[in-house]
Amino acid sequence: MKVNKSGIEEGSMIEVTEDGKTVLVANVGGSFYAVGSVCPHMRCQLQKGTLEGSTVTCPCHGSSFDVTTGKIVSWVPGMSKALASVSRYLGWAKDLKTYEVRVDGDYLEIS
Ligand code: FES
Repeated sequence: MKVNKSGIEEGSMIEVTEDGKTVLVANVGGSFYAVGSVCPHMRCQLQKGTLEGSTVTCPCHGSSFDVTTGKIVSWVPGMSKALASVSRYLGWAKDLKTYEVRVDGDYLEIS
């Protein structure tokens, strides 16, 4: 997947779809990261959420993820600790898939 990086300002993110694959591309401090674009909780589009630093927050129920690693920062804030533990135990609380990003001039090669 090839993306023109000039349209992704620092502190912003875009969603890119190619060949049925949709990826969220974020510019964090001038470095680019690509992760899965769909929240693992209930499949809301993360691109409609917010990006603060390297943390993207889902617009639906507030789960947040680090776009540099794909790791969960917070899983459904407000969920009871017991339910959160069960979610993790059953594998419902998932990190985002990460993609490799290589800068090639004005473009990003995402694989
Ligand atoms: S769908 Fe993202 S937190 Fe619920």
